[in-house]
Amino acid sequence: MPSFANPFAGNVNRKISNEELVQAIRLDIAGELEAIYVYDAHVQATDNPIAKKVLADIRDEEKAHVGELMALLRVLDPREGELFAEGEEEVREMLEDLGIQEKTLDVKAVPAKTVGSLLEE
Ligand SMILES: [Fe+2]
Repeated sequence: MPSFANPFAGNVNRKISNEELVQAIRLDIAGELEAIYVYDAHVQATDNPIAKKVLADIRDEEKAHVGELMALLRVLDPREGELFAEGEEEVREMLEDLGIQEKTLDVKAVPAKTVGSLLEE
């Protein structure tokens, strides 16, 4: 969520170390994920077709930003990149155990959950 109340919250009076930069990128990724969540909630909450289209487009741009930041994180911290790759491989192995080919995984076949639908359960 925005923190405009303190206009100096993001400022530091020095250059940050690589380790601090990695932490900052993780925080940036969290911000992008939160933005995706909020835009998607607003897309789901309205039937206005123009608003849906614009908000969905912005949401998808935020997803691209996550990809950019994840790629940057892999460059800044190669060990973390290796761990990401390990996790991805573990999921591939689970899919293989289940006889599911990654390319044929149809996530749209699973009904989407929204905050509203979870509250109704
Ligand atoms: Fe973004």
